[in-house]
Amino acid sequence: MKVTIFGTGYVGLVTGACLAEMGNHVVCVDVDQAKVDGLRQGIVPIFEPGLEPIVKRNHASGRLDFTTDPAPAIAHGELIFIAVGTPPDEDGSADMKYVLGVARTIGEHLDGYAVIVNKSTVPVGTADRVRRAVNDVLVERGAAADFDVVSNPEFLKEGDAVEDCLRPDRIVVGASSDRAVARLRKLYAPFNRNHDRMVVMDERSAELTKYAANAMLATKISFMNEIANIAERVGADVELVRQGIGADPRIGYHFIYPGVGYGGSCFPKDVQALERIARGHDYDARLLAMVEAVNADQKTRIYEQISRYFDGHLKGKTVAVWGLAFKPNTDDMREAPSRKLMEALWTAGASVRAYDPEARGETQRIYGEREDLVLCDDAYDALKGADVLALVTEWKTFRSPDFARIKAELGHPAIFDGRNLYDPRAVEDAGIAYYGIGRGRSLQR
Ligand code: UDX
Repeated sequence: MKVTIFGTGYVGLVTGACLAEMGNHVVCVDVDQAKVDGLRQGIVPIFEPGLEPIVKRNHASGRLDFTTDPAPAIAHGELIFIAVGTPPDEDGSADMKYVLGVARTIGEHLDGYAVIVNKSTVPVGTADRVRRAVNDVLVERGAAADFDVVSNPEFLKEGDAVEDCLRPDRIVVGASSDRAVARLRKLYAPFNRNHDRMVVMDERSAELTKYAANAMLATKISFMNEIANIAERVGADVELVRQGIGADPRIGYHFIYPGVGYGGSCFPKDVQALERIARGHDYDARLLAMVEAVNADQKTRIYEQISRYFDGHLKGKTVAVWGLAFKPNTDDMREAPSRKLMEALWTAGASVRAYDPEARGETQRIYGEREDLVLCDDAYDALKGADVLALVTEWKTFRSPDFARIKAELGHPAIFDGRNLYDPRAVEDAGIAYYGIGRGRSLQR
């Protein structure tokens, strides 16, 4: 099919590349000329495993193109996706200016019939607003074009985005027109494995589904972090509790890993936005507010442990930080817990030597040159001259380190394990003090 996608950010680019991979003809539109030029040469601006080869392959085969010119792109699309950003505005609500801007652009150039597909995570009721925005422009122009607006939220995980897009567990489509549903069924038919993955509903339910999914996952994490904090105080080990509860299929093993708090571009933004949506409809979503509050506290946990370890005397100390990205397999630093840790350490007068397999450039871009931050090329280099080690992101490369080497390098051999990656006994047997999240130890020392 002929597909147009507005926005070559994370969601737009992955969706465009995967739809081209399935044999569709895709044109991606972005306002950023440099980005479009780069993409045309196969330069993918984000780190996402598996994305670059499919962008290059499909661009070379002529099924995937990039442009800044909306007019021919709109003429091309039987389906026109809106996948532009919805950054939080001052009060945490999603800012709709880019989405509605694209809607007006579509209205300016649309001829014939097209299905407009909202892929961005947008407040409930956005399909109606997009419909009005397009229609207003069509009326101004006196154009006879026809269109439907559909909500088709994205459930991609960074680091697994290509896989998630090519093999979705469900495809949520909110639509009130049979004609539009038929087009989406045709587009997504190749993505159905074993059974029909498409769940069709009304637009508002589809819009809420996206927020509900992310809020549920965020809630599981904050819940486990709360149990971890209780475990620490009562002398229990949350890792055993996790296995004990995960065995119940109603609870499940996924997304119950305690840690340094959730980050990234989705959970923090979407939990806040859903809370604002509820408030806008006179409902006080108390649970969501607490999910956020528990997470904000959790992000300070390792700093507090390190500070306690040094009796509050952090001035002049150096902390080695392993892992900066908000999770492994990405270079994304948005809302990354490492940032809270480093900023708190700097405020207290400590320095950081950090290593991350991918996020070095991003970290450099955010913080620039500063004396109290050394970005290292290697995990062990980060230990040189450091007092203690904080593990913040659970990259595979940190899984089985040389503890003897860690002990030899650190001024005060102690590991603050923000992801409960290590066996406390193995660390202690190596002569290193171990502090995890909710492992009944940190407070007892
Ligand atoms: C998430 C959703 O999973 C995805 O469906 C949605 O479309 C976008 O938001 P993403 O932000 O890429 O994807 O990250 P995800 O892998 O879900 O992790 C989010 C955060 O939760 C990370 O900071 C991660 O470290 C943390 N996390 C996850 C935990 O602390 N514990 C867990 O058990 C799982």
